[in-house]
Amino acid sequence: VPAPTEESLVEEPWVIAHRGASAYRPEHTLSSYRLAYRMGADVVEPDLVPTKDGHLVARHENELSGTTDVADRPEFADRRTTKTIDGRSVTGWFSEDFTLKEIKTLRAVERVPDIRPDNTRFDGAFTIPTWEEVVAQWERKTRNPWHRDVKLIPELKHGGYFDSIGLDTEEALAASLEEHGLDGEDAPVIVQSFEPESAREVDERVDTPVVQLIGSGQQELTTPEALDGIAEYADAIGPDMRWVLPIGEDGRAGEPTGLVADAHERDLLVTPYTLRSENGFLPEGYRTGDDPTAYGDYRGYYTAVLRTGVDGVFTDNPDHLRRVRDAC
Ligand code: G3P
Repeated sequence: VPAPTEESLVEEPWVIAHRGASAYRPEHTLSSYRLAYRMGADVVEPDLVPTKDGHLVARHENELSGTTDVADRPEFADRRTTKTIDGRSVTGWFSEDFTLKEIKTLRAVERVPDIRPDNTRFDGAFTIPTWEEVVAQWERKTRNPWHRDVKLIPELKHGGYFDSIGLDTEEALAASLEEHGLDGEDAPVIVQSFEPESAREVDERVDTPVVQLIGSGQQELTTPEALDGIAEYADAIGPDMRWVLPIGEDGRAGEPTGLVADAHERDLLVTPYTLRSENGFLPEGYRTGDDPTAYGDYRGYYTAVLRTGVDGVFTDNPDHLRRVRDAC
């Protein structure tokens, strides 16, 4: 186990349930979020995309066929189309071409059935939640005086693209946060985006904390100069794990990069993504066999990540991260 390189800025690094407890239920369903609460997650993540009529719904992509039964629905066969989104050609069925009423007829399915075959028993059982339903669920969990302090961390997807077709998702989310009284700097909500413009827009609109995500192709956002700029509007960065803890040639965690220390110097929290426990997802050096569905040495990998001093980590397995975090 590597020695700690940096202290977290928070008392205990947050267990952030990535798309809910998505190792155990189809992602972005109320069931997946509910399980995350039960497993003791500190923060629950819905990704958000808009419908044609401007409602925000919880999906990782606006293309719906990877996580719903839309491709099997004859009534929607003629909605299949090809679009260029953020420079990438994508074919399928898109949230912005469906009304909320239509999206509510779809059912969630498991994204990675080869690695998570047990989850397919839930295929068809759950609807696609709206952001408002996610907030209502969170309010139910936290309205009593004995509640555990749990935050929501919604991510706006493709903000610039949706602006270009007349769907202002930043405005829709900001208006909802205001309506729910979640627009203050102490609000238990943190808004994330990979797009600096989108994150800035949210920051200008509400006082709710903001996370600048840093994707695998956005290394330019990890420099000290870039972090100075990010600190002007954001409260945290959410980097791809490679920018915090690269994997060496032996398939195991190498030396931390120093990004955590650089961000902490600027009072930015650091919440990298994503920890997953199956051999099929773990870095090679932590796999314990050839079965991609079996758990590998997730404790070893999760521990190495926590020792970098991060302030929270996104994980599909909130129960595992919580166990490792509490033992560290
Ligand atoms: O928001 C953190 C993490 O979820 C970003 O990656 O692709 O799962 O949205 P992605």
